[in-house]
Amino acid sequence: MCGIFGYCNYWIEKTRGEILNTLVEGLERLEYRGYDSTGIAIDSSLLIKQIGKVDSLKKEINKINLDLNDIFVSHVGIAHTRWATHGQPKKINCHPQSSDPDNNEFIIVHNGIITNFRDLKTFLIQKGYNKFQSETDSECIAILFKYIYDNNIQNGIKLKFNDLTKLVLLELEGSYGLLCRSIHYHNEIIATRKGSPLLIGVKSNKNLKMDFIDVEFPDDLKDQDDILSDVESYILPDKNQNHNETLSSYSFPNNKETPSTFTHNTQNLINDNLLPIAANEFNLRHSQSRAFLSEDGFPAPIEFFLSSDASSVIKHTKKVLFLEDDDIAHIYDGELHIHRSRREVGASMTRSIQTLEMELAQIMKGPYKHFMQKEIYEQPESTLNTMRGRIDFDSNNVLLGGLTAWLPAIRRARRLIMIACGTSYHSCLATRAIFEELSEIPVSIELASDFLDRKSPVFRDDICVFVSQSGETADTMLALNYCLERGALTVGIVNTVGSSLSRATHCGVHINAGPEIGVASTKAYTSQYIALVMFALSLSDDRVSKQKRRGEIIQGLKLIPGQIKAVLNLEPRIKELCDHQLKNQRSLLLLGRGYQFASALEGALKIKEISYMHSEGVLAGELKHGVLALVDENLPIIAFGTRDSLFPKVVSSIEQVTARKGHPIIICNEGDEVWTKKAEGSDLITLEVPQTVDCLQGLLNIIPLQLMSYWLAVNKGIDVDFPRNLAKSVTVE
Ligand code: UD1
Ligand code: F6R
Repeated sequence: MCGIFGYCNYWIEKTRGEILNTLVEGLERLEYRGYDSTGIAIDSSLLIKQIGKVDSLKKEINKINLDLNDIFVSHVGIAHTRWATHGQPKKINCHPQSSDPDNNEFIIVHNGIITNFRDLKTFLIQKGYNKFQSETDSECIAILFKYIYDNNIQNGIKLKFNDLTKLVLLELEGSYGLLCRSIHYHNEIIATRKGSPLLIGVKSNKNLKMDFIDVEFPDDLKDQDDILSDVESYILPDKNQNHNETLSSYSFPNNKETPSTFTHNTQNLINDNLLPIAANEFNLRHSQSRAFLSEDGFPAPIEFFLSSDASSVIKHTKKVLFLEDDDIAHIYDGELHIHRSRREVGASMTRSIQTLEMELAQIMKGPYKHFMQKEIYEQPESTLNTMRGRIDFDSNNVLLGGLTAWLPAIRRARRLIMIACGTSYHSCLATRAIFEELSEIPVSIELASDFLDRKSPVFRDDICVFVSQSGETADTMLALNYCLERGALTVGIVNTVGSSLSRATHCGVHINAGPEIGVASTKAYTSQYIALVMFALSLSDDRVSKQKRRGEIIQGLKLIPGQIKAVLNLEPRIKELCDHQLKNQRSLLLLGRGYQFASALEGALKIKEISYMHSEGVLAGELKHGVLALVDENLPIIAFGTRDSLFPKVVSSIEQVTARKGHPIIICNEGDEVWTKKAEGSDLITLEVPQTVDCLQGLLNIIPLQLMSYWLAVNKGIDVDFPRNLAKSVTVE
C-alpha cells in the first residue's frame, strides 16, 4: 500500500519550486496510505529520497541547493510515498527506483508486488545489468526497461516509449501501478496498471473536448497511416525466442526519434501565436486521439496529475480518467494516449474522462463511510497480500523469507511463547491449536502486561513470538525487551515494516496487510492469523506425517480471500439484526468452543470497543459453570456453530441456551441441515458462512462480528474510527 503521484506540465511555465510543491503536496495527500519513506524525481534525472514522512522529504529538498526559480515550460515529475513490503524503509529502497545509479536512465515509481522479481533479477544480472542497489522488487522494472531499450538500440531501433513499455510488461508477473520516465524520452511519461489503481487528472484553461479518449490498439495504428503521417508502421511485438533465456529479445521496426524538447522558447512562440510553426518544427506527433487539442486544432497548455488515489488530484482538477488493468497511458507533448497490447473481444474502445463530484474525505475512504468499514472490506485483498509470493499452491510449499534461516533453531525449541495484546492476542489464541498440532511444540500464549506482571520465567532455549499490528505497543515492546535480556530467540509477526518491534526481534514475518487506520483492528487480525498459520506450516514442512494436513490447510488458504468476499455479502442481514433484534440491548454474550473461542473473544472486543455495548466472549464449555445464570429470553446471544470436531458439543451448549428460553443467533456453515431444521418453526436466527478447514474457519467467522460491531456503533451515532478513550497505537504501559 503505497502512494504514487506524477505531475506533468506542457506549455505552461512552472518554476522548479512550483513543480516541487505540487509533487510534495500530492504526496502529503497520499500519506495516509503509506508513510515510511518518500521520494521524487524531477528535472532530467534528479532523485531526492528520504526515510520517514513527507515532512522529512521537504527538509531533504531544502538541504539541496536547487534554484527554485528556474522555469520549465514542459516538465514531468514523479513521486512516491511508501509503506514498505519489499525491503526495509531505507534510503536505497525508497522510490523512485532507477535503472542505473550513474545516469538514472529509466526512473519508476511502483505500487504492488512483482512476484517474479527474483527470476528477473537473476536474468538481468546474467546479462550484465548487475547494478542493483535496493532490496525492492520494483528496481527490476527500471532495469528491465533499460535492458530492453539498450538491446533495441544496439540493433539500431529506437522504440516508442509505449512500445517499449509493452515489452517490459510482457515480462512482469504480479501487480502494479507504475509510472516511468526516462532521459531517452524527454518530457514523456508512461502510466500503467494491473491490479493496483491509477488515474489521471487533466487540467487546462482552454476549452478542450475532453469527454473520452480512444484506446489505441496495435492494428489500428497500422491502418491509420493517412491520419498518422508521423507514426511509423507498427508491428506486434515479435518475441525472438532464445530458449535458454527467461527473457526474449525483441525487434521492432525502426522508429522516429522522440521529438525535441520544448524549451522556454516554446512559450514565447505560443504567446506570439507562432505555434503552427513550432509544432512543425518540433515534429509534433498526432494520433487518432485529438482530445487534447484546443478548438483551433493546436495543442493546448495542459497539466496532468497522475495518482494512485483521487484524493491527491481533486485539489487541482475534477476531470479524471481511471485507467483499466493493462492500459498503458503515454503522455507527451500535452497529449494523452491510451494503448493496449492487444484487442480483446468486447473490450471498451474508449476511456471516459469523468467529473469527480466527491469531497476529499469521501475519496480517501472510497465508497466507505469509515476507515473501519473500508478495512473490513479490504480483507479479501489484504489476506491475499499476506500470502502473496509466500505460498506455492501448486506444490503446497510455504516460504517465509524472514524465518527460513531460523527454522532449524525454532524446531529444536522445548516450548514457544506467543505474547501480544488485544486483538493481536486473539490471533495467537485462534492459531495456538493448529500451531501445536503441526509443530508438535507446546505453545503458551500470554497477554503482554500479565506476562510482565508475573515476571514469568524465560530461558535461553525459549522461542518468544511477538504479535503486533503497530509494532509499537508498549506492553508488547517491554515484554520483548524482557525476553531479549534473558537470551530467548525472538520472532515478530508485525504489520508495520520498520517498527520498533520489527527491528528489535531476531527475525519475523511482516503480515503485509497495508496500513490500518481505523482504531478497531480488523484486517490486521485476519492477516496475523494467516501469518501464524503459515509459520506453523513452515515449521512442519519436513514432517512426512503432516503432509496431508498441511496440503488441506494450504488449499484451504487459497480459497480464503474469495470466501471472505462471500461473507461480506451478509452485511445487509447483519445491519437488519442491528436495527432490530440487537437494537437498544445493553449486553451481549458470544459463545464459542475450540477454534471459535478466539472468535468469541475477538467479536466481543470489537463490539465493546466500537459500540460501547457490554459484550462477553464465553467458552461454550464453561456455560454450565456459572454464565448460564445470565441466560433468559431477553439476553442476546451469538453462538459459533460452524462444523468441526467439537460440533456436537457446541450444539449441546446451544441447546442449554434455548432450553432457558434464549434466542441465539447462530453463525453456521451454509446449508447446514442441523441448524436449518432447528430454525424451522422456531425463532432461531442463522448467519451462514462458507465452510473451510477447521483451523481456518475463524477467519470467516469473525467477519460477521466485525460488521456487527460496525453497525451497532453507527446506529448509535458513534464515530467508528475514533472510539472514546482509545488510540490506534498504545505506546504507554
Ligand atoms: C523480504 C522483504 C521483501 C522481499 C523478500 C524477498 C522486507 C520488509 N521484506 O520479505 O521485500 O521481497 O524478502 O527477498 O524487506 N523481521 C523481523 N521481525 C519482524 C518482522 C520481520 O526481524 O517482526 C525480519 C525478517 O526476519 C526478515 C525481514 O525482517 O529478515 C523481512 O521480513 P519479511 O518482510 O516478512 O520477509 P520476506 O517475506 O522474506
Ligand atoms: C482492538 C485493538 C487493540 C490492539 C492492541 C494491540 O481492535 O486494536 O486491542 O489489538 O492494542 O495493538 P498492536 O497489535 O498494534 O500491538
